[in-house]
Amino acid sequence: MRVVLLGTAAGGGFPQWNCACALCTAARDGRLPSRTQECVAVTGNSRDWWLLNASPDIRTQLVATAPLRPGPGPRDTPLRGVLLTDAEADHVSGLAVLRGGAGLKVYAAPPVLAALAPVRATLDRYAVWQWSDALTEGGFVLSGGLVVTAHPVGAKAPRYLAAAAADDRWVIAYRVEDLATGRVLVYAPCVGAWSPVLDELLATADCALLDGTFYAADEMGTAVRGESGQAAMGHLPVAGPRGSLMALARHPGPRRIYTHLNNTNPLLDPASAARHRVTEAGAEVLADGTEFVV
Ligand code: MLT
Ligand code: MN
Ligand code: ZN
Repeated sequence: MRVVLLGTAAGGGFPQWNCACALCTAARDGRLPSRTQECVAVTGNSRDWWLLNASPDIRTQLVATAPLRPGPGPRDTPLRGVLLTDAEADHVSGLAVLRGGAGLKVYAAPPVLAALAPVRATLDRYAVWQWSDALTEGGFVLSGGLVVTAHPVGAKAPRYLAAAAADDRWVIAYRVEDLATGRVLVYAPCVGAWSPVLDELLATADCALLDGTFYAADEMGTAVRGESGQAAMGHLPVAGPRGSLMALARHPGPRRIYTHLNNTNPLLDPASAARHRVTEAGAEVLADGTEFVV
């Protein structure tokens, strides 16, 4: 299975347009690598490509990625569809950019499909897409030889919904297995808190792309901390007793890559103590455009 990290930043990207913090300034000055908003492309056969989320930067990301070039016919494209992990603006607004793409399939959990109902009605007027429940019993098969299951990992509904129903399926992770090789990618860019589900997924994974939004629980200021001390932004931190790095220490086997990095995250700086610590623990932070084989 081939994987391309199209974008690796959280919502807003890096630098964020309205942020003058030291990290964003360094990126704007070219001293740190800029990053577009989180999105991944995967394929089992190099002909049928699937997006994991659809970032608002998707046009730039697709144009920059040679294997996703359209052709050979004037309207042919290797893009077959999109697997959404949640309904957040930074993961779904790229769908509007893809409008008119013929025959795309979109998978998402039921609350996300419901939240997107008005968007779906709009997009279907440009080209009829197939919208499917990602949590369907037994999972689903993608063209190119990938078999996928989805797993709830968070209950955070997007902020743009005034009255969202409580549902523990708002955020899901995907397990993508290449039928030909048996190799497994776990994709979990948004995780509320570590859970046994993630341990199960990591246990059979060859590679995991994980929520690296915040390095520390209080990174956005203590105001965003919940009463439990957990970051109240719907993302578990990397560091700390409830952080993902501690949990990942139980899973030394798979390649472990942090993504969806917020512009406040010291991991953005390769010279930071945070980055050294993560690297020493065997986890990775990779640049936009990185391609690898799982
Ligand atoms: C998130 O990942 O929590 C969201 O993208 C935050 C937001 O943009 O509102
Ligand atoms: Mn996000
Ligand atoms: Zn910033």
